Amino acid sequence: MLKALVFDVYGTLFDVRSVLGRCEEVFPGRGADLTALWRAKQLEYTWLRSLMSRYEDFWQVTRDGLIFACRTLGLAPSDDQIEHVMASYLTLSLFPDIAAALGALGSLPCSILSNGSPTMLDSVVRHAELEGRFRHVLSVHEVGAYKPSPAVYQLAENHIGLARDEIGLVSSNCWDVAGAKAFGLRAYWLNRQKAPLEALGFEPDGVIHSAAELVSVVA
Ligand code: LAC
Repeated sequence: MLKALVFDVYGTLFDVRSVLGRCEEVFPGRGADLTALWRAKQLEYTWLRSLMSRYEDFWQVTRDGLIFACRTLGLAPSDDQIEHVMASYLTLSLFPDIAAALGALGSLPCSILSNGSPTMLDSVVRHAELEGRFRHVLSVHEVGAYKPSPAVYQLAENHIGLARDEIGLVSSNCWDVAGAKAFGLRAYWLNRQKAPLEALGFEPDGVIHSAAELVSVVA
């Protein structure tokens, strides 16, 4: 029986595309390309750093991803421009379907399990006025490795104090769902982009297209 949920943050609770405004402001006409490339590189660097056993926190990895994305697009930002664009990660927009979905879940304990550094997570949660809504705000920083390392999903089991199959991960990242399933959590794929299923050998316990459907799928 499902007894608790853990939410992914970037792309699931918060819209990583909300950096577009600042990207476009600093690099007119290049914002969309930069936004897409930056996110792709940020994730790639988390995987590479985990494989190299060279953890740096998600702020650093996000910054490095931005620098590489700028290089790829032939952009030469100043340090001030990098900091200005980076700051958008501290005030990402909450997806409009999240507040109501959290309300509909009632007393089901909800936590966060994210690649974000503790400082980054505190900032977005505070900015969205969600302080106190989550039992635990769990960051990979505690284990020094990124999703989908099993050590990350183990954090949920350790902190929440339930068996793996009593905890469900909610993520818009299908590879994160696969990682959770590989570890033994339940996992619900919030497939906002109507993307194809990753061919990693794991099926989600439920697939939804908006957070409004969450309460029915976990019932
Ligand atoms: C996170 C990334 C995977 O929040 O979106 O953990």
